Amino acid sequence: MADLLEPVMKKKVIVTGGTGYIGSHTAVELIASGFEVVIIDNLCNSDVTVLDGIRAITGIKPVFYDYDLCDMAKLEEVFAAEGKIDAIIHFAAFKAVGESVRKPLDYYRNNLGSLINLLAVMDKHGTTSLVFSSSCTVYGQPDTLPVTESSPVREAASPYGYTKQAGEVIIRDTMAARADQKAISLRYFNPIGAHPTAHIGELPRGVPENLVPFITQTAIGLRDELKVFGNDYDTPDGSCIRDYLHVVDLARAHVTALKRLLEGRNRSNFEVFNLGTGTGVSVLEAIASFERATGIKLNYSITSRRPGDIEKIWADPSLANRELNWKTEITLDESMETAWRWEKKIRNKS
Ligand code: UD1
Repeated sequence: MADLLEPVMKKKVIVTGGTGYIGSHTAVELIASGFEVVIIDNLCNSDVTVLDGIRAITGIKPVFYDYDLCDMAKLEEVFAAEGKIDAIIHFAAFKAVGESVRKPLDYYRNNLGSLINLLAVMDKHGTTSLVFSSSCTVYGQPDTLPVTESSPVREAASPYGYTKQAGEVIIRDTMAARADQKAISLRYFNPIGAHPTAHIGELPRGVPENLVPFITQTAIGLRDELKVFGNDYDTPDGSCIRDYLHVVDLARAHVTALKRLLEGRNRSNFEVFNLGTGTGVSVLEAIASFERATGIKLNYSITSRRPGDIEKIWADPSLANRELNWKTEITLDESMETAWRWEKKIRNKS
């Protein structure tokens, strides 16, 4: 009887990088699923107003620490202030491929230093579960498609890519040494789109490097034209192929992965899942989807290949479908439409 009268304690989750693109959408889904969210983000590539967007959607503004995870003393402060932390979802990282080639030590220091600090602090304070933000970049150009989790990890094409590979190895080895802790690494394919409410979305600083923000910024008139990087690849229309999934679908996968860990349904203490739709889409097909979804004719031209680009990659998501009971639900056209809605919202256009 006493048990029934006790308040149901919400599970408390630290979301690092929680004001970022994928982090903010995941914070929303976590709150909607009844988790208490604590965000740590040093705002190096995001804006504090994202917290208002999260509140507009969920009615809750998460507790927020404007701290750098490389600063162990600050991290200790969070754990001292927050008490028991049940789990961590670790998004915070530098993610620009080209910049990482120019500044490798910044990437190694930031992306790996923050992860090592988190692993140390979770051990000290009895946090048992970790979800890690990884990338399909770990596969390089795979020999066979679609890519399964057992496809070989290829030598990284950039320091950024290597921080994802090394991050996974660091977590795997750390979990192997700790009986009471467990982690899931989620290898994202290409997240796109924005929350359907247009309260949160992608906020690239400067000229976007990724395809969809470049498309929407071109459509809104911020850029003259989209340059399609190559039409002479060995693909049906000659442009590169990727697996684009909606960011809300991706965010939901984090909630299911977290629940799997917290409910002890994991099969080992380090698991890896591909997160994608399972369908490859070319750059030209992505443009056609945007045009179809919005009714806007996009100004684009073909230019030379971008150095370091992978020709084609798409996921075999069947392991995540089966084990996480997760699959993508939002179509490519819907994803483009939400990206466009968000672009219009942030430029004050209707
Ligand atoms: C890139 C990174 C990947 C990283 C991800 C993070 C490379 C090789 N890969 O993924 O490691 O995890 O960003 O966001 O850099 N495209 C154009 N014109 C543009 C922009 C893109 O044609 O202006 C094409 C690209 O050639 C590519 C596709 O669009 O075929 C997607 O590009 P992008 O959004 O940059 O993602 P990835 O290259 O897949």
